[in-house]
Amino acid sequence: MMKKILVFATNNAHKLEEVQAMVGDKFILKSMADVGCNDDIPETGTTFEENASIKSQYIYRAFKIDCFADDSGLEVEALNGEPGVYSARYSGTRDSATNLQLVLQKLEGKPNRKANFRTVISLILDGEEHLFEGAVYGTIRTEPSGAAGFGYDPIFQPDGHSQTFAELSAEEKNRISHRAIAMEKMVNFLGNGSIELLE
Ligand code: IMP
Repeated sequence: MMKKILVFATNNAHKLEEVQAMVGDKFILKSMADVGCNDDIPETGTTFEENASIKSQYIYRAFKIDCFADDSGLEVEALNGEPGVYSARYSGTRDSATNLQLVLQKLEGKPNRKANFRTVISLILDGEEHLFEGAVYGTIRTEPSGAAGFGYDPIFQPDGHSQTFAELSAEEKNRISHRAIAMEKMVNFLGNGSIELLE
């Protein structure tokens, strides 16, 4: 069976593993390091679309290889969509506990606690770019709860669940997450005749 090779524009081994599990064994995902790229691509965009695109175009320009990049974050309605593209460094540090405390602090006294996670994927296939989006809606708890996952997981409770993302198992989160929804759209697109997979 011939498998399709795609470079995932990340050097986060955890993310690569998570996404490999989502896309299944029809695709072999390679990280940037796997193709000899250790550059820190500057994410200078102001939207998830722009940042995902900057990363995939960078890899494509350098290696002329099919690739994709994702960009995600938390968008809180009462904070006008913040932290958004600044999710990783909202408080000025990369420390998740500090970043999520800032969201809790900014939401103090605000009755609207609606929020969503959103992912945008930019796929470059044969030199052409395709965008896929996934979102999961929920609410921000008043206190963190749970130890699994990462980032803002301990304060985000997806609609239809009584637990936070950090209280759900990895399998359950990966079934319903913003990233899973966007990845599923990309996998469906890849499997729908746009490339030939030889069994
Ligand atoms: P990235 O673009 O996927 O690297 O995500 C950027 C930032 O958004 C992360 O550093 C986290 O702070 C936040 N984030 C993205 N996805 C998740 C998630 O699934 N759970 C919690 N936080 C997330």
